[in-house]
Amino acid sequence: MIDILVGSQMGAAEYVAEQVAEALVQAGYDVHLHLKPELNHLNRYKTWLIVTSTYGAGDLPDNIQPFADQLAQDQGDLNTLFFAVITLGDSSYDTFCLSGQFLSKMLLEKGANQLINNLEIDAQQPELPEEYALAWLPKLIEQLKTK
Ligand SMILES: Cc1cc2nc3c(=O)[nH]c(=O)nc-3n(C[C@H](O)[C@H](O)[C@H](O)COP(=O)(O)O)c2cc1C
Repeated sequence: MIDILVGSQMGAAEYVAEQVAEALVQAGYDVHLHLKPELNHLNRYKTWLIVTSTYGAGDLPDNIQPFADQLAQDQGDLNTLFFAVITLGDSSYDTFCLSGQFLSKMLLEKGANQLINNLEIDAQQPELPEEYALAWLPKLIEQLKTK
């Protein structure tokens, strides 16, 4: 089971998450999309794929901020967890994709295992964000297969 945690203000990251979920199902994985992620609804013994955009000064979208707060306050060890992060941002901001970097740093500090480097999708790039995510996905699946 892969828990997909969505952080999206205007829907682009949510759409990417849905496309990725569909591709993972086609690859044989069970997935669960969390549009309002809550730490206590998530399984720490499985895999989390975070798909989030970036707002404010590198901040998280409103719907995933409570999850980040819960995670920050949590005292538990996450060394049973595997995770990966897809971040949507815009390189015209000097806070490019900081939201995803913030979350992956916090997860690493809590002992979680990162499957692959964060994918950072730049709104300045020519293709649609989901194209980059779907092109990257086989690399993630390769890592999942080794676990
Ligand atoms: C008001 C506003 C603030 C933003 N701030 C940032 C930012 O600090 N860093 C960044 O990388 N992207 C920033 N972005 C770009 C968004 O992350 C990007 O457009 C993303 O695709 C939006 O995804 P969403 O529709 O899922 O919310 C900002 C966009 C808006 C509209």
